[in-house]
Amino acid sequence: MSLSDLIPPPSVIVTILENRRLRKGFRGLYRKYRAFTMIHEAAYVNNLELAGRFAAVAGCVVDFLFDSFEGLPPAREELDGASAVAWQKNSRSPAHYNNCTAAEEEAGAAMKLSGATSFSLVKGWFNETIPRFAPPNEIAVLRLDGDWYESTRVCLENLYPHVAPGGIVIVDDYHIWDGCARAVNEFLATFAPPNAVPRLSQFHDRIAYLVKPKAAGMTENGSAGQE
Ligand SMILES: C[S@@+](CC[C@H](N)C(=O)[O-])C[C@H]1O[C@@H](n2cnc3c(N)ncnc32)[C@H](O)[C@@H]1O
Repeated sequence: MSLSDLIPPPSVIVTILENRRLRKGFRGLYRKYRAFTMIHEAAYVNNLELAGRFAAVAGCVVDFLFDSFEGLPPAREELDGASAVAWQKNSRSPAHYNNCTAAEEEAGAAMKLSGATSFSLVKGWFNETIPRFAPPNEIAVLRLDGDWYESTRVCLENLYPHVAPGGIVIVDDYHIWDGCARAVNEFLATFAPPNAVPRLSQFHDRIAYLVKPKAAGMTENGSAGQE
């Protein structure tokens, strides 16, 4: 049985997310590690649940977390937009969170709290770590949260090919930063026949994600695209 056979359809994922006990646990995690994320609580909880429960159902046992642990690289106005550059300059803003810097120990502690039994933290800039990474198995859940254009693009280009057919790619910042949306849109525009074009979906009206098509010309619900 392949990994993609184990991954539940989106309707099943939504049912799993109704689990109140889990939502409470993720809220606690959010409060404790607020400095490590820029998004607000509801989006964080939805996002973690979507990734965590999906991974659990898919039988994932190893997680890899990539981060500089030195915060975000400089935003580029021509790719990320003036608002990203302005946000990054404004270090006195309460929403700056020290340029989203978190220590390796904080990320490790957050992972343990999430119940992950086995995980690896990969420290470094994405353009150096990601292209060299060879995942031991197909990826069931790829969660991108790098905010900027180049951070998102390098992940999509190098990791999407390793996502299992039927696997999920969550893009945290699609609705937040221009650079992230630009990277996703450009990446999706590179798909030409015979490759099926992945479609963006929406979870709880906040989180953008896509499910990797299982075969050329098939939509995520398995129809031939004539809905
Ligand atoms: C908004 S924070 C998200 C943190 C965490 N994923 C979470 O959910 O709370 C963005 C993270 O991406 C990292 N990051 C962004 N671009 C990066 C790059 N090019 N190389 C390495 N890390 C990067 C930053 O260090 C920062 O920790």
